[in-house]
Amino acid sequence: MKTTLSIIKADVGSIGGHVSPSNKLIDTISHHVEQEMDVLLSDFYIGTTGDDIALLMVHDKGVGDEDVHRLAWEAFKAGTEAAQAQGLYGAGQDLLVEAFSGNVKGMGPAVAEIEFQERPNEPFLMFMADKTEPGAYNLPLYLAFADPMNTGGLLLSPEITKGFRFRVQDVSFTEGDRLIDLSTPEDLYNLAALLRDNDRYVVESIWSRHDGQQAASVSTTRLHNIAGKYTGKDDPVMLIRVQKNFPATGEVLAPYSIAHYVGGFMRGSHIGPLMPVCHGTGCSYFDGPPIVSCWGFCVHEGKLTEPVDLFQHPFWNEVRHRAADKAMEIRRQGFSGPAMLPYSELEYGGIVHILEKLESRFTLRPATRKAEPVAV
Ligand code: 13P
Ligand code: 13P
Ligand code: MG
Ligand code: MG
Repeated sequence: MKTTLSIIKADVGSIGGHVSPSNKLIDTISHHVEQEMDVLLSDFYIGTTGDDIALLMVHDKGVGDEDVHRLAWEAFKAGTEAAQAQGLYGAGQDLLVEAFSGNVKGMGPAVAEIEFQERPNEPFLMFMADKTEPGAYNLPLYLAFADPMNTGGLLLSPEITKGFRFRVQDVSFTEGDRLIDLSTPEDLYNLAALLRDNDRYVVESIWSRHDGQQAASVSTTRLHNIAGKYTGKDDPVMLIRVQKNFPATGEVLAPYSIAHYVGGFMRGSHIGPLMPVCHGTGCSYFDGPPIVSCWGFCVHEGKLTEPVDLFQHPFWNEVRHRAADKAMEIRRQGFSGPAMLPYSELEYGGIVHILEKLESRFTLRPATRKAEPVAV
């Protein structure tokens, strides 16, 4: 029998702005899932990072199952009512449609799912990021799965030296899922050419070329493409299976030591360093900085172990200090240049109205005639 891991994540309200969900809200969602899971789920876990809540559900129904998605949708609906009753900020923020219709994809919540035959031991990682976009995972995934400078296993481990197949999605295309498959190492430069553009090209999944197994799944929702206006950043979740035929846990984590700059931060409109944090960490400085958390689990016969908090280790304190310095450094230049996202990404914001109003105030000065070149 196959096992499916489904993460469905939403922001349905938080305390003190876009900071952190309340205990009442988390308890309501958790209680709802416990009451309703019945024979549908074999296990579940609820995690929070920043103002987002993620449900990790274990079942045997496959990817995109209507009942599993409905359960999560209704849990977040129940959470929204609790958030409204408490007067939390942004209650129901990520539930962008009124009624559930078959699959939460395209309805606001972020989704990452993988179905597989359990290995005798099945370690995997669950990531949550807040105040950023799905492309924030592009660089860490590229380094972990395609670069031997990061992942020694690409040279050392016979199960991964064949490389991986990256499925990349063009998230600016809204009439369907526009996808391309690229295989590393042959397509390394092609992959880099796409992944440099975090706003548009996003790793959707990664597959082993050794045995065809799926290694990773990333939520690729762009909320502004669904809502037609800014309603909050996408705050992506991700599942990664690790060890043996996949990179080791430490190889997947290592790239987060860069605290690379990503889009998001205040009002989803700035650039900030991605800070690895312990789970349950809220947001603070400039509604950020963008943060990422990671839980390690094993799943066996549909049951989860307790999680380990992988960014809790003292090593990451040093990275957090460096990320804080990087955040303050880029904030010193305010709105200027790369500190704020380009116009194309602010498309639905107030700046559009400012620029539209200024159009009529522009004047045209005739070009002055250039001097004729001297004949020689
Ligand atoms: P083990 O031999 O302890 O499984 O470790 C292998 C490994 O992947 C370490 O990174
Ligand atoms: P969230 O997407 O995390 O709700 O943040 C929205 C925002 O505008 C923060 O400044
Ligand atoms: Mg929010
Ligand atoms: Mg959020």
